[in-house]
Amino acid sequence: MCGICAGIGKNDQIAYVILGLKKLEYRGYDSSGIAFLRNKKLEFIKSVGQIKNLEKKIPNELKENIVIGHTRWATHGKVCEENAHPHLSENKKIAVVHNGIIENYESLKTEFLSDKKFYSQTDTEVFANLIELQKGKNLAKLIQATKLVKGSFAVAMLAENDENIYLAKKASPLYVAINNDGAMASSDISVFANKFDDFYILEDDEFAVINSKNVCFYDKNGKKIKKNSVFLNNFDFKEENLTEKYFMLKEIKEQPMVLRKTYFKYFAEDFFSKWDLEIIKKFKQFHFVACGTAYHSALLGAQYVQTFCKKECKVSIASEFRYGNEIISKNCLYIFVSQSGETADTIACASLVKNKGCKIMCVTNVPYCTLNKLADFVLPTFAGKEIAVASTKAYVAQVFTMLIFALKLADKNFQEQIKQFVLSYEIPSLDKKFLKEIFKFKKIFFIGRQKDYVTSLEAALKLKEIAYINCLGIASGELKHGTLALIDEDTLVVAISTEKSLKDKVESNLQEVKARGGKILLVSNLQHDIEVEFLINIATFSDYLMPIVSIVPLQQLAFEYAISQGYNPDKPRNLAKSVTVE
Ligand code: F6R
Repeated sequence: MCGICAGIGKNDQIAYVILGLKKLEYRGYDSSGIAFLRNKKLEFIKSVGQIKNLEKKIPNELKENIVIGHTRWATHGKVCEENAHPHLSENKKIAVVHNGIIENYESLKTEFLSDKKFYSQTDTEVFANLIELQKGKNLAKLIQATKLVKGSFAVAMLAENDENIYLAKKASPLYVAINNDGAMASSDISVFANKFDDFYILEDDEFAVINSKNVCFYDKNGKKIKKNSVFLNNFDFKEENLTEKYFMLKEIKEQPMVLRKTYFKYFAEDFFSKWDLEIIKKFKQFHFVACGTAYHSALLGAQYVQTFCKKECKVSIASEFRYGNEIISKNCLYIFVSQSGETADTIACASLVKNKGCKIMCVTNVPYCTLNKLADFVLPTFAGKEIAVASTKAYVAQVFTMLIFALKLADKNFQEQIKQFVLSYEIPSLDKKFLKEIFKFKKIFFIGRQKDYVTSLEAALKLKEIAYINCLGIASGELKHGTLALIDEDTLVVAISTEKSLKDKVESNLQEVKARGGKILLVSNLQHDIEVEFLINIATFSDYLMPIVSIVPLQQLAFEYAISQGYNPDKPRNLAKSVTVE
């Protein structure tokens, strides 16, 4: 998490950096700051909260040509101005903005910096002081310091009396762009408007020095290296316009369009003709790895591959996989699902299996992301930019894309059925009449079986993250193994039921809930013979398409619940869109 943006050039860079930080707010938005070189001395401005608060603190007349900026998602130390970046070394000669985590910052402090006074609780302030402590010119100091550091970092550094910006990177993304007027560095390519001529992707253990005239790259020994600029094939720099009051609402409403686009890309443009599917068919197992919502879509992806291709599938949470005793096999295709392609745990797992010689496939929504660089096969999702922190259209795009992949792999003829679905599917409007009653419940369980169980997990996550309701997604059959003890008159059980063959089982579970006084919201396309307090009827499509249909009213429900509580669903507390630290 955290976003860094640095600008150097003939024109005022503060405005550019602030604009860049606003585009990086999805990476964290608890505090922000800039540092700049003024009369060769370092100065800074910081603020708690969103970038607009920082903007208000910057005097209109302040124009500077060498600026580094940061938007923070707190890892070390609470949210306050002292902990906001940039951080300066004790003697104020070095300023640093940092994305990542310095894991050994406590031991570095004890070993090298015991005589320094610290003003924050951050690992980054240790980094700034560590750089300052090294010998030689500023680039050499930065290189030396990174050798002492364990963990991940993308760093932009300014130094007193030095008209360069220094960049370093390990396991956190960092990009550089240049034109005749100057250069910019950022955690995300989309920050650069298309006014730049050349773009560079900094690799791990590479360093860059940018100034208003050029950019030079160095290896970890300080030796100059030549890097080729990357060609950004059709990269879309266009900013998303807020056509609804909230991005989340806009993105929920965009889902039918995302499905159509996915259909078009995979069928009309015949995506798989460029692939050698025979290679993929040879794998005996498929192991899906992801986090959060992407993990839920991976659960469905695995069900699809197992059902249609009759191949053994496994699904792991990335943060568990990386520290477990997984048996890594070359007979297995490892599939990493990630909207951003920058999730630290997922990337760590991808590197781990790749280093063992295994093939990996990535299902990602952001082009030019770190995961795609590692991948042998990339299955892109076509959700378009997702701005709201809670994933909606990207989830649906992942599920749909993995369904198409599984069907294609199994040589099933399904194109017409899918075409009919994407052409006829529309977002239903949620009956607002009963919502007020629903919002009274503070204890909510989501239940379902098989694919509906996955939907229950995803629906519960949505409600937790944006409405801050303590809720759970549970496999229906598990209720009586413990959770039933919690059911009382104040409990709402949301049952998702789209699997015809399991209809009777669902009804038995709901009877058990009723017997304990629990209230029921049934989300179903089936004719159920049970009286429930609340009902959301959904349209019927082929069984395998139902997870795409059933999640939508539950996304809408979470959105409406958050709004009813006065929360901003686009920027939930404590969270960030891209989780680049573990
Ligand atoms: C929840 C949500 C998160 C992400 C998770 C992984 O709505 O969006 O749970 O799914 O942080 O992110 P990606 O998909 O970027 O790897």
